[in-house]
Formats: sequence, C-alpha cells, structure tokens
Amino acid sequence: MCGIVGYAGPVSGAPSPRPVDVALQGLARLEYRGYDSAGVAVLDGDQVRVDKRAGKLANLREALESRRETPSAVAIGHTRWATHGAPTDGNAHPHLGGREQELALVHNGIIENFAALRAELEADGYPFLSETDSEVAAHLVAREMETAGDLTEAMRRTAGRLEGAFTLLAVHRTAPGTVVAARRNSPLVVGLGEGENFLGSDVAAFVDATKEALEVGQDQVVTVTADSVDIIDFEGTPVTDAKRYTIEWDAQGAQKGGYASFMAKEIHEQASAVADTLRGRIEDGKLQLDEMKIDEAVLRTIDKIVVVACGTAANAGAVVKYAIEHWCRIPVEVELAHEFRYRDPVVTEKTLVVAISQSGETMDTLMAVRHAQEQGAKVVAICNTRGSTIPREADAALYLHVGPEIAVASTKAYLGQIAACFLLGLFLAQVRGNLYPDEIAQQMEDLSAIPEKIQEVLDNSDQVERLALEMKDATSVLFLGRHVGYPTAMEGALKLKEIAYIHAEGFAAGELKHGPIALVDEGQPVFVIVPSPGGRDSLHSKVVSNIQEVRARGARTLVIAEEGDEAVLPYADEVIRYPRTRALFAPLLTVIPLQIFSCELATAKGLDVDQPRNLAKSVTVE
Ligand code: F6R
Repeated sequence: MCGIVGYAGPVSGAPSPRPVDVALQGLARLEYRGYDSAGVAVLDGDQVRVDKRAGKLANLREALESRRETPSAVAIGHTRWATHGAPTDGNAHPHLGGREQELALVHNGIIENFAALRAELEADGYPFLSETDSEVAAHLVAREMETAGDLTEAMRRTAGRLEGAFTLLAVHRTAPGTVVAARRNSPLVVGLGEGENFLGSDVAAFVDATKEALEVGQDQVVTVTADSVDIIDFEGTPVTDAKRYTIEWDAQGAQKGGYASFMAKEIHEQASAVADTLRGRIEDGKLQLDEMKIDEAVLRTIDKIVVVACGTAANAGAVVKYAIEHWCRIPVEVELAHEFRYRDPVVTEKTLVVAISQSGETMDTLMAVRHAQEQGAKVVAICNTRGSTIPREADAALYLHVGPEIAVASTKAYLGQIAACFLLGLFLAQVRGNLYPDEIAQQMEDLSAIPEKIQEVLDNSDQVERLALEMKDATSVLFLGRHVGYPTAMEGALKLKEIAYIHAEGFAAGELKHGPIALVDEGQPVFVIVPSPGGRDSLHSKVVSNIQEVRARGARTLVIAEEGDEAVLPYADEVIRYPRTRALFAPLLTVIPLQIFSCELATAKGLDVDQPRNLAKSVTVE
C-alpha cells in the first residue's frame, strides 16, 4: 500500500537528472503497490520542489521533465493508495512541511492520532493543504527541525509522537545531500550503491541500480547520503547490526518480458516458479529445510496448527490443510488473519501458527502473528519478500523464491505458497515420524514432477482463452469444488471478481443444494473442479452428481477434469483437462485454467489487468 522511493547522490551544485530518473524508475516498479496518484520532490538550491499528479504515474512524467535540470542531489517519490482523502493532486504525496515549505515528506501507513496533531499544528499556525493524515508528519518534522537543527533528530522526535503505522521519508532545504527515513510497522529497505544510496518500500524500487541491500528494523531512523547510511533506533541509540544481503531478484523479473500484462507473465512463469520453490529443498529424495529454525523437539509437541492469512494466501492455506492433516494427523485451522485475534482464539505453546503472505507486509497477518506470539505460539512464515516484516518477526521463515510478483492479482505466489506449505507438512511428518521415509520420498518425487505438469497445462491454454473471449459479457460465474477443489473454486472466483469485476462465487459443491443452487438459471456458467476418479471413488462420483444437478437447471457446465476421466463427458459442455497427479497436489494444476480465464477475460474487456480498481498489492493497513 503506497510505494516509496528515496535517492541520495553526490552534492555538486550542477544540474543532474539522476535523482529524478531514479525516483521515476523506482515508482514505475512500485506502482503495483498503489496507483491513484504519484509525486516526486527534489531540492533546487534552497527551494523544495514538489510535483504530484492524481492518476497513474504517466501523468507525472511530463511534469517532471524540467526537474531533471535541477541541481538536486536527492529525490523522494511516492505512489499512493488513498486512505485519508480522495485521490487528487492535493492529497498526493510528497507533502510540504513548515511555514516556509522548507521540507518535503512522503508517508506510507496510517497515522492514527493525526486529528489531534493536526489541531495542535493548526493552532500553531501551520497551513494545511490536504485532507491526508500524512501532512501532520511533514509539519511535525519541520517544526522539530526548528529546535533540533538536525533532520535525523527532528525525524526521531516526530516518530515518537506518531501512533499507527508509518514509513516516512523527508528532505529539507538545509540538508542538500540527505534523505532521512523512519519506520514503524511499515516496510523500508536501503539499497547500497557506489557513491549513491537508495531507499524503497521494497527492493523493486532500486533493483536495477544495486543488488546490495540493508534491512531496516522496527522503530528505526535511517539517514542516507551519497556515501553513508546511519541507523539509530527511536531512543537515539546507534544500530550496528542491520542485516546486509544480496538481492536475488533481477530487474528482468520486474518487467513484462513480451507479455500483455504482468499477470499473464506471472501465470506463465508458474512451472519455473514452483520448481524454484522446491529447488534445493529436496536432495536425494530427502527433505532439507534448513530455514526451519524451530527446535525439532518443539515441533514434536505441537498439537494444533493455525494458518493465518488473507485473500489468495488464505485460499492457499485452505488447500494445504487437507495435506497437513492427512500427513501429520494434527488438526489444522485456517483463519482469516483479520478475524483471528478478535475472537480470542485458543492458542498455546503447543500451537504452530503458519503465517502465509506473499508480501510479508500484510498488516492483518502481521497483527495475527504478534497476537499468536504473545500467547506463546511459535510462528512459521511462508513468504516471498525477503527482509519483510512478517518473516523477520516469525520464529522461522520459508521463502517461496518465485521472484517478484508485480500484478496485484496473486498467481505464481499462490502456487509457491501451496508448494512451500506442502514442504512444511512433509517436514513435520518427517520430524514427528508420521510417515515412513520411503513414503515421504515418494511424495516428494511426485511433487518434483509437478512443474512439468504445470507446463503442460500452460501449453494447452487455447481452450480456456477461447472460453474467456466467448464469455466476456458474462455477469455472473459460479465455481464448485469439493475437498481441495473447494479452495480452488474460491480462488477461481476471487480472481474473476478482482480483475474482471464480474460477480463470482466459489462454493463447496455439497453446499449447493443447501441454498446456492437457487442462483442457477438457464445459461449460468458454472466451473466445476472434478477430483481424480482414481482417488476416493465416492468423492469423484459426488462431484459428477453435482454437475448433473446444475446442468439439469440449465447451467452451462465448464468442467475441469483429469485426463482420461470419461465419467464427466455426458454432463459437461466443456471439459478442460489436467494431467494426472496425487489428489492433494491437483490444486497446483486445476487453478491454472481459472487464472488464465480471468486474465484473458479481463484483457478482452479492456481492463487494466495488473492494476485493478480499488486494490493495491500489499495491504499495510488493517
Ligand atoms: C488476490 C490477492 C490478495 C492477497 C492478500 C494477501 O489476488 O493478491 O488477496 O493474497 O491481500 O496478501 P499477502 O499474500 O501479501 O499477505
């Protein structure tokens, strides 16, 4: 939610396009985080120059052309997902601070006590130009600067007065080569360059300029110049143990690579994405999870697993519940993270909490993690973004290694989350002795064969692409599944809602006759995810009966069935095939036609597939 970029280069006094170019490039890479307005601030002698525009970043580029000639050594930029105040030019960041507009500031997060602070600053004569909560931070830093005379100290004092979540970046006319940042519960990383340094909400902001990064901890202030990075905590104590790391993602990963959208590209990367999740973790048929830093003795005492996650990540959790319960005989609850802590959940030292989050920043999930830890539970994070808050705070973290996911709608991370949780489940079964080593080896061999099967599904996407075109004017689509097909149905519906703005619902197929079948009318499209006929017989035949039930009421049945499953033929208007695999692994294949369907349908409707309305990639507010 909101993307932030900062740049500090050498102070020369000569015109330099570099700060503006870095800011724009960073914002282009961060635009997936929020895209209803954008802005950049630079210093021009003793003037602070701010350009900001409502709408997409393209609106800002032209306005910034002349700023490339300023002698600024620094720049800060912001791309916004509105919380307080509509997406207008005035509410866009950066905000000016001080009576003489001597400072510019950008903010990600929510300042909960902004109303009281605004009243105080207004009474003190500070002019407010926007409806945002962020503007109070700009004036507070400017006011503290008057007494502190030092931007780092002014930022530190300001951070101490704010409640809520924030990453703040500021530049001040008296500090020509310096960008100062502060963070609490909101993301911030430092990029280390040669004679220049960077700040970003995530590494995408500067990945094409440097691969070296520094993690910034909670409640810390960072001061960046061309050749220095200094970190202190909110008490003012220097931080000397910030973790430095090399970024694995390449800049290519954040480009469309010939696809019409990032989403299409990411869907088509899924075979290699899942292979990357599994890589190095299965060796000679044995499961290696070096990152599982929780003592095996503790893992043996676990009597319950609670998965906390939101949206697509929660659907991934719902899939792996079936696998982990089956393999480990431990009860698994899947809980939407934002509901978790409000219902006084039963969590003890014997509970293992699995927090699934692509971004590692989702505030709802972070709060659930903290709540669980307060009750004594151990937390494993399943994440994609290195150095993000959730894996940093968890007791152990398994990374997906699927590369940057730019499209707002999650696809390859979903598959990576499922695959990583399968590894976790098998690892628990290994540690606890629930499965024999040869059974684990067999499961892992079958899991290793999945990327090839994913490729097969991707190579045969013509049929579902055609269906998407045919159905582009549909107003409602239903999705049915049982067992692991149920969360797949939920995920198929979520994808269609979020990017094609079509009413869609996923149901447990057995629930149909308890109400939802009343929705089915002549021509109603219904996708049905059919389990393997080679699995539990009764499950397959029950789903086939469900297809008959909706067809008898006029539905158009779009059936996703295993290769060679003939039983569905009499009742299917379309059969979309997936390769044979274990029933538990099928969700890694059956969801792909649904992802492609949504992506193609939204593209055919002329919608912005990567940046659907009202959404943002990482949701850092509760
Ligand atoms: C849907 C989607 C969202 C996210 C959810 C959690 O396509 O992307 O539902 O899955 O906001 O995000 P993370 O995984 O970053 O915690």
